[in-house]
Amino acid sequence: MLNIVTVNTNPYEGQKPGTSGLRKKVKVFLQDNYTENFIQSILDANKGSLEGCTLVVGGDGRYLVKEVVDKIIKICAGNGVAKLLIGQNGLLSTPAVSCIIRKYKTLGGIVLTASHNPGGIDNDFGIKFNCSNGGPAPDATTNHIYQLTTTIQQYKIVPDLVCPVDDIGVQTFKVANREFVVEVIDSVRDYVDYMKEIFDFPKIRSLLQGSEHRKPFKVLIDSMSGVTGPYVRRIFVSELGAGEDAVRRVTPLQDFGGAHPDPNLTYAADLVNEVKNGDYDFGAAFDGDGDRNMIIGRDAFFVTPSDSLAVLAAQLHRIPYFARVGVRGFARSMPTAAAVDRVARKLGKEMFEVPTGWKYFGNLMDAGRLSLCGEESFGTGSDHIREKDGVWAALAWLSVLADSGASVEETLLRHWREFGRNYFARYDYEECAAEPCARMMRDLEEKITAPGFVGSSLSSGDRRYSVQAADNFSYKDPIDGSVATGQGLRVVFADGSRLVLRLSGTGSAGATVRLYAEAYEPAEAGRRRCVVTHAMPCSRCWTSPCISHSCITTPAGTAPL
Ligand code: G6P
Ligand code: ZN
Repeated sequence: MLNIVTVNTNPYEGQKPGTSGLRKKVKVFLQDNYTENFIQSILDANKGSLEGCTLVVGGDGRYLVKEVVDKIIKICAGNGVAKLLIGQNGLLSTPAVSCIIRKYKTLGGIVLTASHNPGGIDNDFGIKFNCSNGGPAPDATTNHIYQLTTTIQQYKIVPDLVCPVDDIGVQTFKVANREFVVEVIDSVRDYVDYMKEIFDFPKIRSLLQGSEHRKPFKVLIDSMSGVTGPYVRRIFVSELGAGEDAVRRVTPLQDFGGAHPDPNLTYAADLVNEVKNGDYDFGAAFDGDGDRNMIIGRDAFFVTPSDSLAVLAAQLHRIPYFARVGVRGFARSMPTAAAVDRVARKLGKEMFEVPTGWKYFGNLMDAGRLSLCGEESFGTGSDHIREKDGVWAALAWLSVLADSGASVEETLLRHWREFGRNYFARYDYEECAAEPCARMMRDLEEKITAPGFVGSSLSSGDRRYSVQAADNFSYKDPIDGSVATGQGLRVVFADGSRLVLRLSGTGSAGATVRLYAEAYEPAEAGRRRCVVTHAMPCSRCWTSPCISHSCITTPAGTAPL
């Protein structure tokens, strides 16, 4: 029989979970009892529900995941947890954790990740708690965990428990007269089974493989050396028959090969170049823990996350899951371009604008009011789980393309022609001094909320924008009535164009100011404006300057749409 040992400890300052859990440098987590304190506080926040409960544990494969999995096993054993479901080798993508919590109805899960932040001993690590709905813990729970970290005096651990997680199987231990079970599970299986229920795999397979009459649709999927590698290999190579040359960086590495595992045009530039220079119809990349995605088409035609959300919203009927369960409302985070709002209006669906952070979507989904949502920060997902989901987004796009027969570019052009286009750009000012940034935001808030600002007009180039509304965004959750204030400054213009400024909640040093600019062009007006101003945008994606093509512009007035 194994014994529980109570260890005396002292609180650490600053164990406050941010938007997505406690995220710090690896070396911070390596301090004596630092990690133990936080794990014990997570469990204490669930006191009363722990006895007999099951928790899911897994992470994105970064440096320290395996060591922390071992600590979690020993501390859970010391606190009366009955069972742990752990991904083999400690690997589970964030969407897979959400899927497994829901499928096996567990009390929750502990996710070990710093998402898209670099890994390795000199970089980042993180611990996040997800609740029984599969979603990130809400503010009330994370605040409670934080309170507990400020007063913690002891943690309980079973130091002699030895439980390797390299092989799939069940291990049973006798801990202080109780049974404690650790089941090491296939990291991929439950998630893949679920994707096969949501999507029509044979249909996607035949798109990728081609037929007598149609060339194979060539994809290139980049896991950026993050946790999605095994998922991508199983889904795209084994299930969809895409071939080994259709996937890249599919071995999870502790330091992501030294790269920054964030799927965007900067950090996934290798993928962009390969698709641009090769014979590919589609490219996708995912971040370290598998919840973010980037989608590109032939010649690396870039789909902004805001457009990706709007296009999927307009075409959800092409995905079997939604054909089956129906389509409820749509939602986006406040800074995300409002392209999806136009789709919601047309389809007569409820539309929600929430603060930045995936956790704000959860209540709406649980209440059956939200089907599809997304954020400009490369997050797309649906009510199939309670996290954003990178691989799901790629499969959703392939389902749409398989059903419509259109290319990525044609899909976007058709969408813009129907709904108009919300041009979107984001500017990041990183590692700024915190105090002047806070002052700047205060001053700006004063300006935009002063009498006379609404109704005034601003100009840029040949356009004038008249201010229709301006505020510091606040949100009242329609389900539980909780209120989040100070979520970012918003200037909304009469034509739907917007300027948004907010301070990032994820930066690790100083302040990061984000400026989001969005200009709406109705389909017809967009065409005329170019002719009049001789703006010469890219002839293929209508952007000026174009970031997706080696832009061969056509003479003004003849740009085809
Ligand atoms: C994390 C969350 C996202 C959120 C993003 C915002 O990635 O998971 O839901 O959109 O942070 O980051 P920011 O740096 O803009 O606060
Ligand atoms: Zn992530």
